[in-house]
Amino acid sequence: MKASAVRLCLAGCVAAGSVVCGIQGQAPRDDGHDLTRLADKYGTDKGSTVHNYTEVYQYFFQPMRNDARKVFEIGVASGSSLFMFRDYFPKAVIYGIDIEDSHRLDSPRIKTFVADQANRKQLQQFVDAHGSDFDLILDDGGHTMEQQQVSFGYFFAHVKPGGYYVIEDVHTSLMVPGWGIDEDQKNTTLAMIENFVRTGTIVSKHMTAAEARYATDHIRYCNLLKGADLHSITCLLKKK
Ligand SMILES: C[S@@+](CC[C@H](N)C(=O)[O-])C[C@H]1O[C@@H](n2cnc3c(N)ncnc32)[C@H](O)[C@@H]1O
Repeated sequence: MKASAVRLCLAGCVAAGSVVCGIQGQAPRDDGHDLTRLADKYGTDKGSTVHNYTEVYQYFFQPMRNDARKVFEIGVASGSSLFMFRDYFPKAVIYGIDIEDSHRLDSPRIKTFVADQANRKQLQQFVDAHGSDFDLILDDGGHTMEQQQVSFGYFFAHVKPGGYYVIEDVHTSLMVPGWGIDEDQKNTTLAMIENFVRTGTIVSKHMTAAEARYATDHIRYCNLLKGADLHSITCLLKKK
């Protein structure tokens, strides 16, 4: 495999109860809109400088590149990844929420909103303002167990059928102590995902029973993607 070939691997993968194969080879390149190139251009750590998630994301996102209308990221910071997605998805409006005010970044195709990703009332206010049916929702916010699982529980219902929900930096589940990990470590996001891969059921103390049931019933498949350094982990879930 060439140096530029995919440096992420599928660590775990389940589709309707059955294991599906991993990915090998090079991510598709499309007319200069390579996702990693855009990540590096704008300086998000999703690109080749740190996590290298974008090389694998491109496998999944490239087929929907020209159709996606609503892409939404939790965690805006300086806006690097919002700019990356704006350039990659030519017809999509890119939404971002952050606990900090990011309105300076607003433009016709970028809409930001102030919200705490662990506060369902504020998440509802975002949905009231900007609607539902997102092609892609990606969580790159605070990365605590509660934040990741409350956001997933709340927002998975707002991904459109066939769309994706991504939880980035799942490796915080391994960074004990901290990140809201309980002493017995049973509440980690990684444990939740691994349990789903084993049993087909989402169990989370941070979700309501209805949210966990909805996620269980609507996940088509789930990929745990590990970086080449085996440190960075992102989780990509496809909705039925
Ligand atoms: C890693 S940065 C986002 C980087 C950006 N996605 C990129 O790739 O360029 C994480 C962001 O999450 C935000 N954040 C932290 N806790 C949050 C919370 N509870 N709710 C919403 N955003 C939060 C921080 O303010 C910070 O801007």
